[in-house]
Amino acid sequence: MKALGLGAIGSGEIAINSIFKHLDLHDTDDKVYMAAVCDPVPGRAEAMAQQYGIKSWYMTDDELLADPNVDIVSICSPIRFHYEQGMKAIRAGKHVHFNKTMAMTSREAMELIEEARRMNVKLTASPGMMAMPLNIESRRAVLENKLGKVTYAIGGVRGVLFYHLREGYRHDNCGSEPLIPTWYYKKPDGGPQYDHAVYGLTSMTGILGPVKRVSCMGGQIMKEFKFGEQIIESEVDDNFVFLLDFGENTFGMFYSALAGGENMMSPSLYGTEGRLEKGVLNNVQLFENPIMGMAAKGLPMEHLKMHEPFVYRDVMELVDYVREDKRPFGSAEQGCHVLEIIEAGFESMRSGRTVELKTSFTPLTLEELG
Ligand SMILES: NC(=O)c1ccc[n+]([C@@H]2O[C@H](COP(=O)([O-])OP(=O)(O)OC[C@H]3O[C@@H](n4cnc5c(N)ncnc54)[C@H](O)[C@@H]3O)[C@@H](O)[C@H]2O)c1
Repeated sequence: MKALGLGAIGSGEIAINSIFKHLDLHDTDDKVYMAAVCDPVPGRAEAMAQQYGIKSWYMTDDELLADPNVDIVSICSPIRFHYEQGMKAIRAGKHVHFNKTMAMTSREAMELIEEARRMNVKLTASPGMMAMPLNIESRRAVLENKLGKVTYAIGGVRGVLFYHLREGYRHDNCGSEPLIPTWYYKKPDGGPQYDHAVYGLTSMTGILGPVKRVSCMGGQIMKEFKFGEQIIESEVDDNFVFLLDFGENTFGMFYSALAGGENMMSPSLYGTEGRLEKGVLNNVQLFENPIMGMAAKGLPMEHLKMHEPFVYRDVMELVDYVREDKRPFGSAEQGCHVLEIIEAGFESMRSGRTVELKTSFTPLTLEELG
């Protein structure tokens, strides 16, 4: 099979760090090459094409999708555009990798999955958290009953709304204007539910399976943030906690805190006969070097050392899915379920009630864990 032509829709932080720089190592040229990039900001796509040797650049997604060299696309625009662009890409017969989150709502995600089935194209959705070896071992421990009956899991992230203000590439952008991360602080698609909780929720559901009921409490503490000298007025929550019911008395707790706590993208798990905390399963260290427990599975060291190895891996997973029909860790079905958890969280925060979920997905089997 010839190398697949990849088109990036959007050329901001994630396109640069998870695709352009990784493919610029040219170690997978036999599988995939950068066919095209588009971005509506004048000069940006052109600057990226020149910097990273991308074959074609465009101002619009329609032009990119009409390019016959583009076989697969990665959607790297802000989240509010993902559904419309994903749908157009699918209908143009392209295979699609979605950056997180794959859409704004689970209904949109379901429509994308259905349309992809109809068009016979493949989808992957970031974040592919089950490619994290610690998550793989956590799922294995659950499936092999090493914890007894799991009673609860806890995970969380902290300080999330400060993250994008510090991303180096936003200030120096190949001659194009600075990439001000305003949309992360604005409705409808900003905020740490879509941006950061999604990682921990994907890990927890990947390990324990789909959730049946959700409740969530939280709100907004900080009203403005500073990018250089520029003030960004925030509209989004910055401090909240999810409570998840996995059924049969197994619960999950996930915090996203403005401050305090630690980053637990991979949850701690507690059961009637054991516990898994920080890479230690029932007093046994799972990884000789704990850092390797957090490293994207199967990636060569030169990619692991770069920024955004997981998103790069998610893109390559689509490449392999198309070429070898291998079920991806970052499945659209799980992406859709996690979106419903996020929506239910908003609903629960508004109403003060626990919300029942309708979507589901099939978590990885022992065989698929490898
Ligand atoms: N930055 C990160 O750390 C990070 C990590 C993982 C995933 N993501 C995800 O990647 C996606 C993009 O985030 P980012 O940080 O790169 O954002 P960004 O703001 O840095 O870049 C977004 C780019 O999309 C372009 N754009 C705007 N409207 C567009 C449209 N209609 N069509 C095509 N391009 C358009 C913008 O001009 C900009 O260049 C989001 O889904 C985000 O959640 C970001």
